[in-house]
Amino acid sequence: MTTANGFGTGRILYGGDYNPEQWPEEVWAEDMELLRQAEINTVTLNVFSWATLQPADDVYDFARLDRIVQTVADAGMSIVLATSTAALPPWMSLKHPDVNRVDAQGRRMRHGARHNACISSPTYRRYSVALAERLAERYAEVPSLVAWHVSNEYGGFCWCDLCAQAFRDWLRTRYGTVEAVNDAWNSAFWSHTYHSFEEIFPPNELGDAMAGGKAVLPGSALDYQRFYGSSVLDSFREEKAAIRRFDTARAVTTNMMGTFPDYDYFAWSDDLDVVSWDSYPAHDTTPAQIALRHDLMRAVGRQRPFMLMEQTPSRQNWQPYNSLKRPGQMRQQSWQAVARGADTVQFFQLRQSRAGCEKFHGAVIGTDGTGSTRTFREVAELGAELARVSPQVVGSRVEHGSVAVVFDWPSRWAIGYSAGPSRSLEYVREVERWYAELHRRNVPVDVVPATGPFDGYAAVVAPCLYMLPEGLAEGLRRYVADGGRLLLTPMTGLVDEHDRLHLGQAPVPLRDLAGVWVEETDALPPSRTVPLAFGDAASAGDDGAHGTVLCDVVRADDGTQVLARYAGEYYAGSPALTFRPSGSGGGVLYSASFPDEVGTRLTVDALLDGTGVVGHDLPAGVELSRRVREDGTALTFLVNTTGQSQAVRLELSGQDLLTGAAFEGAGMLEPYGVAVVMGR
Ligand code: GLA
Ligand code: ZN
Repeated sequence: MTTANGFGTGRILYGGDYNPEQWPEEVWAEDMELLRQAEINTVTLNVFSWATLQPADDVYDFARLDRIVQTVADAGMSIVLATSTAALPPWMSLKHPDVNRVDAQGRRMRHGARHNACISSPTYRRYSVALAERLAERYAEVPSLVAWHVSNEYGGFCWCDLCAQAFRDWLRTRYGTVEAVNDAWNSAFWSHTYHSFEEIFPPNELGDAMAGGKAVLPGSALDYQRFYGSSVLDSFREEKAAIRRFDTARAVTTNMMGTFPDYDYFAWSDDLDVVSWDSYPAHDTTPAQIALRHDLMRAVGRQRPFMLMEQTPSRQNWQPYNSLKRPGQMRQQSWQAVARGADTVQFFQLRQSRAGCEKFHGAVIGTDGTGSTRTFREVAELGAELARVSPQVVGSRVEHGSVAVVFDWPSRWAIGYSAGPSRSLEYVREVERWYAELHRRNVPVDVVPATGPFDGYAAVVAPCLYMLPEGLAEGLRRYVADGGRLLLTPMTGLVDEHDRLHLGQAPVPLRDLAGVWVEETDALPPSRTVPLAFGDAASAGDDGAHGTVLCDVVRADDGTQVLARYAGEYYAGSPALTFRPSGSGGGVLYSASFPDEVGTRLTVDALLDGTGVVGHDLPAGVELSRRVREDGTALTFLVNTTGQSQAVRLELSGQDLLTGAAFEGAGMLEPYGVAVVMGR
């Protein structure tokens, strides 16, 4: 595929969503001139135009899109072409009601909004493929086309009768008999026993869905989520296959959304030629939270470079408070993305919408239509910088991490569906807790799926790996046997893939390896924490560490080292952190609670102790990451995520590609400043 080397352009693609259909055509020429001034070299076209492209069943009209493509191609832009299948045309919704979703309360929706098609609708599937095919037939020969963008931000569910039918078919294929479904879902609970597949319905609010997203039969809710996600992926595959009939070379992608819950993005790894994603931090999103999402998206692409398909150049529209990015912050966030593997920097959007619910969303060109805004100036400055520097960066790979952090959608779903043990438990926050501490140390981290691979990592952190079928446990056992360090937390290894509790002493599949038995688990109300005493801390809470949310009461086996103990509650004195050596330098750490910041720091100290993994001691808010070029040259990115100047000392000498200045062991980063040092 042509993703290497900046999609053949030799530099980072810089641009974004361009919706000229929302503006009179006279404006387009003005846009081209302004985008040229900003060194923008790519546009994403045709994201939401289905109603115009196909005004009736067998009628297609590409005249306006032809003119748009011509305009941007003449201006020398690369094109990312979307298939426009993410919002239904009104006529289609009225004439073919099966394309419309039914919501969780059983109401048949109409056209309107977007991301509104029922994925099981044969009409939707036929027409989305037909549109993708016609677009590919018409535009595959356009030389400036670099990638295809299928649909947009897939998300949500439908609960209609067609989906019910398709779900039953999916269950038949997976289970064979209804008895096997009863067994998997433990449907004897509350008299759910099914006598035929026809008795099974999508578990929406008319049935087994409970308030707050909890499920009466989590096995059923999980299967519906798997079924729906795999149908969405099938739909993507069909559009991609239609494109492939006319274009065998260009990368095909769809824009993802970081930790978005609905679908298991790891299931998409084989089908995406390149991962692309939309990064929209809010004013209070931390740099570590942003970094985790970049790393997660890179992981979906098996650690290859990805596309930053969208970010706002200035403000969003969707947050409660759509704060502006501070001067320099858009550049900083763009470089942060590149540092973590982005080979494109793209915006939503290039010119501001005049009306509609995104009219207050930031854009490169505002309603003033000039290049005089702060936003435009900053975009143009970054454009010039990327034009100069990005050929040195594009295509390089982020260095292999020393530590892996597991992110597992099925565990996250199943924890979400579980009523109990605590409503305060949030899977993503538990991943963020550990990631933030590694990020603070500037330890190189890769996010990995629960299936690994784990080799090459000195340590693996697997927060709340709740759903642990035997196959997954086996991979972790092998990793530890080979000398790896594994950190586990409460809510680990409790259930199989159907959310049935494993029978035996928890964490059953890893019981021996962990060297602890989780006998019972206490849930703390949000206002309560339990002091923890690490190592030699003389008495309760000496080092200020506390456990939060859940406290496992564990019994340690002989040969399991106790590294910290609870210093409060009736379980005071019982183990809060243990280490079970595996005899080969590796072993399992079991953190019996979710420690606060101090506790997390001490736990990570213990995890890394003796592994040789040390991060980089940099001022708070300065982030270091590395990409390595094919020729072996290392690029060290220093990103100051704070609004204050920061003095950096670091064993590194080379040249800062951004300023041309030498970096010899020390340097200053201005507020939101960045350095890209080539050298060692
Ligand atoms: C998403 C969508 C865009 C736009 C932006 C606004 O990422 O893909 O169409 O709505 O959000 O932030
Ligand atoms: Zn449906």
